[in-house]
Amino acid sequence: MDVKNKVVIVTGASSGIGLATAKLLSGKGAKVVLAARSVEKLRKISSNMPDSLAQKTDMTKPTDIKRMVKKVVEKYGRVDILVNNAGRGMFSAVEYIDPAKYRYILELNLVAPVIAMQEVIPLMKRQGGGAIVNISSGTSKMYIPYIAGYASTKYAINAITLTARQELEKDKIVVSVVYPYITATSFAKNTIRAKVMGTQHSQRRNDDLPEADSPEKVAVKILEVIETGKDEQYVHEWIPRK
Ligand SMILES: NC(=O)c1ccc[n+]([C@@H]2O[C@H](COP(=O)([O-])OP(=O)(O)OC[C@H]3O[C@@H](n4cnc5c(N)ncnc54)[C@H](OP(=O)(O)O)[C@@H]3O)[C@@H](O)[C@H]2O)c1
Repeated sequence: MDVKNKVVIVTGASSGIGLATAKLLSGKGAKVVLAARSVEKLRKISSNMPDSLAQKTDMTKPTDIKRMVKKVVEKYGRVDILVNNAGRGMFSAVEYIDPAKYRYILELNLVAPVIAMQEVIPLMKRQGGGAIVNISSGTSKMYIPYIAGYASTKYAINAITLTARQELEKDKIVVSVVYPYITATSFAKNTIRAKVMGTQHSQRRNDDLPEADSPEKVAVKILEVIETGKDEQYVHEWIPRK
């Protein structure tokens, strides 16, 4: 889909990959809806983006998601593209995963994108089509100690995405998934960490890790998937050792 003049919702647009994606899409002529909790940041970003909308949205609150989509329809009358990007990490041995924190990232990384999809799908059906891009993670293709809680939310979003893709093909709604790897954003800082890690926790050697991708590089891949309608888009060819 050509993004020019299209109405695009980007969740988690106040920082990192979401912000880079919002800027790239706006630069290509899209009307970008910036959704996140940090409304002051969103307003500032929006002030430099023609025909954009800053909408305070806590994605863990279904009423916020519904209100955000309602505001988009009030302003633009349609939604062409949804980029489900808002998310946070979790770092903990399975043995010590805090159930309350796990439920929180399940809400944010999995349930919220599903609710956002449910809000836009009927609109897209009426419009005759649309595009939905869910941001997963390279970790959803691996089994890496201490990130199972996080990775499991992304394994699940892969299943949601690729199943919805089949279900919605007849309605010309193209659903895709993008797998970023290590990306230079505030993600690590915002990752929820267990108080107790267990005795086996060993630091991964820095030279084991590849250089982080820029969020702008990931944004280019997100644009590519919107334009091509490809099912799965990997950002980086690097696969870490297990
Ligand atoms: N960076 C990486 O290495 C990496 C790798 C693979 C996948 N990813 C995925 O990429 C996506 C974006 O992450 P990032 O790297 O850009 O991290 P980031 O810089 O921390 O940005 C996260 C974004 O999500 C928003 N967010 C967090 N909680 C929210 C909530 N409750 N409601 C609404 N928005 C919320 C934040 O905005 P507010 O705080 O203003 O709400 C922020 O805009 C995530 O889904 C992440 O899992 C990242």
